[in-house]
Amino acid sequence: MKKRIFAGLLTAIMAASLVACGGSGSAPAAGGDDSSGGADGKDSGEAIVVGFAQVGHESDWRNASTNSVKDAFSKDKGYDLQFVDCDNDSAKQIEAVRQFIQDDVDYIVIDPIVSTGWDTVLTECDDAGIPVIVIDRTIEDSKKYISWVGSEFMNEGLASGAWLKAYAEAKGIKDLNILVIEGSNGSSAQIGRTDGFKKYADEEGWTILDSQDGDFTQDGGQKVMESYCKSYAGKFNVVVCQNDNEAFGAMDAMKAAGVSYGVDKDVILISFDACKAGLEYVQSGDINADFMCYPLQGEYCAKIIDQLEKGEEVDKQTFMQEPWYVAEDILKDITYTNNAGEEVTEELVQVTDAASQASY
Ligand code: AHR
Repeated sequence: MKKRIFAGLLTAIMAASLVACGGSGSAPAAGGDDSSGGADGKDSGEAIVVGFAQVGHESDWRNASTNSVKDAFSKDKGYDLQFVDCDNDSAKQIEAVRQFIQDDVDYIVIDPIVSTGWDTVLTECDDAGIPVIVIDRTIEDSKKYISWVGSEFMNEGLASGAWLKAYAEAKGIKDLNILVIEGSNGSSAQIGRTDGFKKYADEEGWTILDSQDGDFTQDGGQKVMESYCKSYAGKFNVVVCQNDNEAFGAMDAMKAAGVSYGVDKDVILISFDACKAGLEYVQSGDINADFMCYPLQGEYCAKIIDQLEKGEEVDKQTFMQEPWYVAEDILKDITYTNNAGEEVTEELVQVTDAASQASY
């Protein structure tokens, strides 16, 4: 059912939800039941039209995210999902949002490829009275959206630094010479993970030999690592890949160059996402630590739309729970200061059965 929220009113709702729900909010349990049971579209028999501008299909994580949104907004659940794979092209993503406005969809969901360049098109959504929900990555230059669901990427980066510091101390490794393979530059995932890790590198005096964009893909990770293996042969003992697919490519490149990696090998290998294949490599000891980025955000997003349909207030931000997975049991937990300035003790999860850890 079309429930147009008029421009201006939408801005007022957003301001109210900012005041009311500044922190993280309640959300359905991961893998929980459909939470959109009371949506008007279902009651009236009319589908709720949701336009989703997805980043692309660059990684295992991304495919899991796409499937999660498709499941949450299925026909059976009373939705008509207009899905656009933006192929990691920011211009295409803005165009997709404009098309959703043209098509007068009920809601727009965006996973922003980059964190800036959004204010104009979000103003157009606001003017059209179409509520926008942002998932996964964040938008830095505009607050013209109703709600965001996703990961605290800075904490993920801090997590990798805090773990490496404690691990190197436990293993008696004094000099850390690090190569970073970054995710797509300009994305909040890349910015947060880079900044969080760099904070530890600066404080601890670690050497970051190089930090290049691997575009969150296996191919990108492999190419960057091939070039690192030539330029920094024999000079590095840590590789940080900003997602699992980059790590898979980096492993292939290191193997070809005769560099060993993983538990008690030449190189400590760190990754992010903790997708099933990544956890299998943690279990086999090829990846030393993998920091989860939780992709199944569709149901959280559906819960927000359900609340909006019922005229309820929604949380401005919903953060995912993201465990730290490790290959060895030499450390039980780590205390670190998160991005909100809170001291948090994180229990490390030793991967003994990757199959039971992830469904994607
Ligand atoms: O925005 C989330 C990141 O994007 C994931 O870490 C990565 O795998 C994806 O491509």
